[in-house]
Amino acid sequence: MKTPRPVTYICRSLLLAALVIHTATAADRSALKDAYQEHFLVGAAINRTIALSASIQANNVRRNAEQVGKDIALTKEQFNQVSPENDLKWQLIHPREGSDGYDFAPADAFVNFGLSNNLYLVGHTLVWHSQTPNWVFAGTNPPPPTDSDAAAGGPGRGFGRFGYNGPRASREELLQRMRDHIHTVVGRYKGKVKAWDVVNEALADGGTNVLRNSLWLQIIGPDFIVKAFQFAHEADPDAILRYNDYGLENPAKRKKLIALIKELQAQKVPVHVIGSQAHVNVGTSFETMDQALAELKTLGLPIHITELDVNSAQGGQRNTAADVSANALATQGGLVSEADERLADAYAGLFRAFLKHRDTVKVVTFWGVNDAVSWRASGKPLLFDGNNQPKPAFDAVIRVAAEPTLKP
Ligand code: XIL
Repeated sequence: MKTPRPVTYICRSLLLAALVIHTATAADRSALKDAYQEHFLVGAAINRTIALSASIQANNVRRNAEQVGKDIALTKEQFNQVSPENDLKWQLIHPREGSDGYDFAPADAFVNFGLSNNLYLVGHTLVWHSQTPNWVFAGTNPPPPTDSDAAAGGPGRGFGRFGYNGPRASREELLQRMRDHIHTVVGRYKGKVKAWDVVNEALADGGTNVLRNSLWLQIIGPDFIVKAFQFAHEADPDAILRYNDYGLENPAKRKKLIALIKELQAQKVPVHVIGSQAHVNVGTSFETMDQALAELKTLGLPIHITELDVNSAQGGQRNTAADVSANALATQGGLVSEADERLADAYAGLFRAFLKHRDTVKVVTFWGVNDAVSWRASGKPLLFDGNNQPKPAFDAVIRVAAEPTLKP
């Protein structure tokens, strides 16, 4: 005859079972970095709250202390690479002129976070038309007359809300500022930050001009790109130097990228990697990404997917442009119908394409760790929701890693 078990015993067993179940879900959750370990690094852009482990306002991000703790835990669990979402941009790290015009603390925190967690560090970004303070372009040369400015695309066009229309620096002054900035920033993190986005988004959207009508182009001329790469190479000869841009899924933009990189290669400019931002939308198919990667590969350089996210907002379905000045438009209108399923399908197709081209794709970075901290939060573009719970798209990406891979 069975002896009845004492209540305390039953309670203890239940508690133990609950504990086991709980730890099992946390420990058993697959990690993106492990699933793709043999093929490429999987990373995320992190913002200042994560780098500093602090509940502070950082650009579009507002997280309480508990949420920050969970965002950090998720970052460590899932990723083996990090990029700084904002803190290495000129406006943040070098807001004022002169050698004492740098604010290194948040960037230092980013680098320390990466080093102490054994993460591959990318630096983003050295030369860009956006998030660059006005003083960089300011000087005593009169700005061009309005009509020639208009002929070049209209005042401020292409500069977004960071436009500067006052008297300008000379070519020599601007080159000197660029050199000082690159030497200081790249030099400070030499050997720690392994890869740099040296020039970001220099290509024009639409039209026949290859280069964007930026102040860099207007003041220095087209060789501003060559100079930026040369300065970065001088500052850290071992660093991997990337040219980074968006919309390369679009054949016309890709053609411009290929023309630009061939020109740089002909001039023996030290450009080592093509950075494809991949701010895409739920309509982006395997075929689209496959075609893009197949063509980009002809340049003979490794490819890094640098800012991956898949916009599910109605406003973002027309194209995959990612100009920061048009971001509000791209995330409005509510989500597409069946957004979760469509997101999962799109991510599965994208990762099949990355795997097919695994001989060339060496890093895949998500632009944010979860939907709540995303620059496109209302487009819910990432694999984890605002509570860091995996979405169906996460499972889809993990499943694809186990599929037989396609031949490149
Ligand atoms: C975005 C950040 O995510 C935002 O927080 C910031 O307000 C604007 O810039 N292409 C890039 C990134 O190269 O630097 C941009 O990041 C997104 C588009």
